[in-house]
Amino acid sequence: MAALRLAESDLFEQVALVDVVPGLAAGLVLDMWHGAGLYGFSSPLVGSDDLGALAGADYIVITAGKPRQPGMTRTDLTAVNAAIMASVCEGVRRHAPEATVVVVSNPLEEMTHLAARFTGFPQQRVLGMAGVLDSARFCSLVGLTGKARPSEVRALALGSHGPEMVIPLSQAFIGDQPIEALIDGPTLAAIVERTRESGGEVVKLLQKGSAYFSPAESAAAMVRAMATDSGEVLAACVRSGGAYGTTDTRVGLPVRLGRRGLGEIVKLALRPDEQTALAEAAGRIAQRITEVEALVDAAG
Ligand code: 2OP
Repeated sequence: MAALRLAESDLFEQVALVDVVPGLAAGLVLDMWHGAGLYGFSSPLVGSDDLGALAGADYIVITAGKPRQPGMTRTDLTAVNAAIMASVCEGVRRHAPEATVVVVSNPLEEMTHLAARFTGFPQQRVLGMAGVLDSARFCSLVGLTGKARPSEVRALALGSHGPEMVIPLSQAFIGDQPIEALIDGPTLAAIVERTRESGGEVVKLLQKGSAYFSPAESAAAMVRAMATDSGEVLAACVRSGGAYGTTDTRVGLPVRLGRRGLGEIVKLALRPDEQTALAEAAGRIAQRITEVEALVDAAG
């Protein structure tokens, strides 16, 4: 889906899809290309089981990894996905040393951290995709209240892609009105809670696999923002460098992306409770990252 959304944008010389299963990526892109005239795009697509197909890529979206099964948390995936991340990043480093990487694999913050470690790329060129998705989920759930269309809602989901997700309502708007002036507190609290659980809600319904339409569009939106240097403010998982009083770890923050990854962390006037929640989220993520580092070190 991410490959299709990027091809459809017609912004790229080529879109390459890689999967370990022989023939799978080639078959998928052939299917996508068959629809090129109907979709109205002409970007060439290639599909391969060889990471060499990434040669010279400017942007790489890493979705490789096992998805959750019903009842699993994202953290349950750490060990298996860390190993997958190691082998994918080895190929990325070899074939596309100048690329900017957008990590989608879960658990998101840990995998973004490992992608930076395994590629050795500068921090600015390793981003995690979760904030765009979680923000979009919040906006679409607000849409269910009938008070606004999803596209009229603006909000940023920060913190972690999981239990420590922080959606600062002081920064959420319907049109140019503060959302808190239009929707009552308990309703907003329920929407925030459902947003936090949305990935799991999809996993539970699908029984096999996890969400892909909206995660794909979210990753594609980040890549398009970089390729067009759009200057929009998005939520993304980045190395915080201590911004917002956080531990220096991987955490979802408001950012502006540039052509080569992180442009800047945007400073919003969060309320003290929002700022505290963000700092707590970063603290818990830092703890998990310490654990994943130990796991990887032990595996050699
Ligand atoms: C989700 O939230 C896959 O983590 C992703 O749906």
